[in-house]
Formats: sequence, structure tokens, C-alpha cells
Amino acid sequence: MKYLITSALPYANAPLHLGHILEIIQTDVWVRHLNLKGLEAHYFCASDTHGTPVMLKSKEENITPEELIQKIYGLHKNTFKNYNVNLANFHSTHSDENEQLTTEIFKKALDKGFVYTKKIKQLFDNKENMFLSDRFVKGACPACGVADQYGDACEVCGSTYDALDLSDPISTLSDSKPSIKESEHYFFKLNELSDYLSSKVDELSNQSPIKHKLKEWLDGDLKDWDVSRDEPYFGFKVPGEENKYIYVWMDAPVGYLSSIKNWCDMNEYDYEKLLSDRDTKLVHFIGKDIVYFHLLFWPAMLHAADIENIEEVFVHGFLTIEGMKMSKSRGNFILADKALEYANADFYRYYLSSKLNTDISDINFSVDDFVQKINSDLIGKYINIASRTQNFLTKHNNSEVKQNCQNETNKYKDLYAEIVSQTNDREYSKALKNIMSIADEANSYISSMEPWSKAKDGDIDSCIEICSESLNLFKDLTILLSPYIPNITGSLFKLLNLKQTDYDQISKDCLKEVKPFKAIITRLEKSEFEGILN
Ligand code: MSP
Ligand code: ZN
Repeated sequence: MKYLITSALPYANAPLHLGHILEIIQTDVWVRHLNLKGLEAHYFCASDTHGTPVMLKSKEENITPEELIQKIYGLHKNTFKNYNVNLANFHSTHSDENEQLTTEIFKKALDKGFVYTKKIKQLFDNKENMFLSDRFVKGACPACGVADQYGDACEVCGSTYDALDLSDPISTLSDSKPSIKESEHYFFKLNELSDYLSSKVDELSNQSPIKHKLKEWLDGDLKDWDVSRDEPYFGFKVPGEENKYIYVWMDAPVGYLSSIKNWCDMNEYDYEKLLSDRDTKLVHFIGKDIVYFHLLFWPAMLHAADIENIEEVFVHGFLTIEGMKMSKSRGNFILADKALEYANADFYRYYLSSKLNTDISDINFSVDDFVQKINSDLIGKYINIASRTQNFLTKHNNSEVKQNCQNETNKYKDLYAEIVSQTNDREYSKALKNIMSIADEANSYISSMEPWSKAKDGDIDSCIEICSESLNLFKDLTILLSPYIPNITGSLFKLLNLKQTDYDQISKDCLKEVKPFKAIITRLEKSEFEGILN
């Protein structure tokens, strides 16, 4: 099986925040884990560049959308690197590949009769001379009457509606009262595909709350999907039209394929063959806010494009900060790059992973808890094993590890296998808990055996044996942790003289020679986190 793995394409209208990082880490850990199992797995992502979010932001900054997306592309790519993410390719939806693939899929859907046209009424801004998308219009909610709500949904009562139903609508672009105008739009026949989509549910997701939600949508009345927008719009033109554009949510998921195609072309892989191969699996990691797009619209589009049976979608909850939804106005917003001024990227990777599982409930980041968790787990339990033992070997045994000292590590063979399967099942919190419980026991072993007393009493043989037992155990934990904290474990592998690592080496190979231990990570202090929240 070949795995092509993605996380959602971040909008190219702002830098990444810690919520994005949650998803990126969840994805990267899984990709690295598959690689450790010896499987071929590649991680693809891209900038989502079209539509309203980018148009609004570039207007605000007084630059062209092209200038904005180029700037943000560089920022995003760099943030991935800063968080030690093993990306195969970071591409853009504003690319030749994406235009070609999106247009192809659009045409195929038209030819097959999945897409039809229909005249609809919309709000029109006479001053700006443009149709108003939902986010460009505000008015009073038709359900509860609260003023100042966007054209798609009410932030107060939660109801969703058509922008035409707002009372006293106002264009947010010109502050003028819009009129109602007719225009022809392209619609995707989602409703007609509802049986097909129902038959796909079990294949697409193995998370019960998601299946539940999908069944609820599929049992209700699926609305056909409006996939075109009138000009001015930043995006790709509808084939054969001069002033109509393809809706951003149609070209965005195609961006996954474009990133793969771009990578294939650069690496002399056959894209068509890779994608039509039954042994290729496309896996998407997404947040719970975009389930509808990925589990209804996207499979419907792939069906129209004759790309079948290869996707699975994995959904996570939202990151909250200090117990609240992240928001700039609330002052609890954490930018991804800013966070790195306060702590090592792997510390965030560890902390966020220690809270991730297959559940879709929200996940909280709190500075207190973060500092406590890192100090107690990574410093107090894990790295402590090496810092208490490694230098006895460099000092008293010529840096050599005594052979056949694997009694301690052999005790954990079953638990190691369980940890690997928990990482595989994306139950990261459980896997890390088990790793730390082994680290705890290793420390108890060291405390009770007191290698330092043995050395002091001149019983060097016993001291060397205890330290060798401990370090072999430490090596195994380091391999198990390597998908989670790849930079830290990378440095440690060097100190342990291990070149290549994979799961096969766990509890099998014995360490041979080590370098002197260095404190490559240090404790966090809560007082040093002032200013991390924006
Ligand atoms: N551009 C779309 C995705 C298109 S995919 C074909 C989009 N972009 S986004 O930048 O708003 O979000 C990107 C991903 O980050 C989504 O999966 C979203 O759920 C996730 N998150 C955004 N805020 C988040 C949190 N606060 N917490 C966790 N994930 C969050 O949606
Ligand atoms: Zn309302």
C-alpha cells in the first residue's frame, strides 16, 4: 500500500496559528509512523489561494491577490519547516496543475450530467458593481432578528439561511443597500448522488460521530451545490465562460491532487498510474468544521472524475487556548511562529500529540499545563534515563555498551507492540501515556539499582551492566517517540551512534558504543511565557 497523506490546505490570507499546527502534527506523526513501519507514505499540502478570504485580505492590505498569496506561501512553507514537518511537497491551488485538473474534473462532471445551470437571484452591490458573496453582506438574522449577521449563518442563534432572507441587508464593501439581481449559476447534483454517497460512508470514515453526522445529512434533503461565482472573483474560469468562475471549494480539494501531481513531475513518478493504482490510498486529515466539504462534496467530485475507492478522511476537534475558542479580540491567539520564541517545536509536537486521539472533541492548550507536562514527561521521565546512566559508560567503559543487557527491555515487548498499534490507530495520547509509564519504570529501576553507588564501591561491572540495560531501554523509547519529537530523537540517535532507525530495531538490536551525554533539552519555566498570547 502507498499512502498519499494530506492535511487541509490553509487559506493564504494569514500566517498559521497553533490550531493549524495541531492538525499538521497529527498528520506528520502518522506519516512518520508509517515510514518507520517501512511503508511508503508521503505528506502533501498546499496554499488555498482562491475566493473570498484572499480577496478580502488583499483588499485590506492594498495589494493584489497574487502578491498576497505569494507572501503567505513563503510564510506557511517556512512554518512547516520550523515544526520539523516531513512534507513531500507544499504547492499552491493557484498553479497550472490545479487549473488543468480542476477544469478537467469540471468538464467531466458537465459531460456526465452531474452539473447543470440554473438562474438564481442574489444580492448585488450597485456601487461596486458586483454580486455579493455571503461574507460581503450583513443584516438582521431572519430567525432571531439580531442585527449585524453575515449572509450565511447567524453567530447568535446558529441558524443558517440564504442571504436574500436577511432583513435590512447592507453591503460590507460599500456600506450601501444592495439590490436583487438574477444570474445564471452552475450546480452540482449532490442530491442525485445521495445513494452513492451513503454507500461510501463506512469506507470514508471509521469515526462514529462523523458517520453519525453524515447519515443525518444523507437522510435529510441534500441541496445541490452552487459551484460557480460571478466576476469579479479570484479563481479559475468556468470552462467556456468569460465572466464566471469556479467556486473556491471546488478547486481547493483538487489542490491535494495538484500537489501530488507537481511532486510526481519533479520526481519522475507517473501521476496517472499512482492515482489509479488500487494499492494507493489517499488519506485526508481535517478539522471538524470542514467535514461537509470533504465527506460529501469531495467524494462526489472524485466520483464524477472516475477516481474511486481510495480515500479515507480523519477528523480532529478544535484547539482552544486556556479553555476558550482562539480569538484575537479575546487576546488568546497564538501564532505558530511566535510560539517557537518560547519553546522548542518538538515540545509543542509532544504536548499536542499527548492530547490527540480519535475523538473529535476540542483540545485545550494551557501554558501551565504545557510547562508541567514537558517538565514532568520529557525532562523528568524520558531524558532522565540517559542523563543518569550514559556517562558512566563513557567514563568507566571506554564508551562501550555491555552486550546482552536486554533483560529490562525484553519485559516490554508486548507493550511496545501495543504502542505501535496505538500510534497506528491515531490514539496518540494512549501511546504516549504508555511510553511514559515505561520511562517511569526505567527510572525506578535505576533508582533502586543505584549505578552511582556501584561505581563508588568499585563494582564497575555492575554499574556498566545497569547502565547498559537502561540505555537499551532508552533507545527503544527513543525510536517509539521519534514520530512525535523527530528533532530531539534525531539528536539523541547521534549520541547513541544509531544511523538509521525503524520499528524493527526495537528490543532487537543492542547499542554498541555511545557518545557523552549532552543536555539537549532543558526545563521550561512558566515565568518565561509572558507575551505568548496575542
Ligand atoms: N482552506 C480551507 C481548507 C481547504 S482543504 C481543501 C480551510 N482553511 S483554514 O486555514 O481555515 O483551516 C485549515 C485547517 O486547519 C482545517 O482543517 C481547520 O479545521 C483547521 N483549523 C483551523 N483552526 C483550528 C483550530 N483552532 N484547531 C484545530 N484545527 C483548526 O479551512
Ligand atoms: Zn439568529
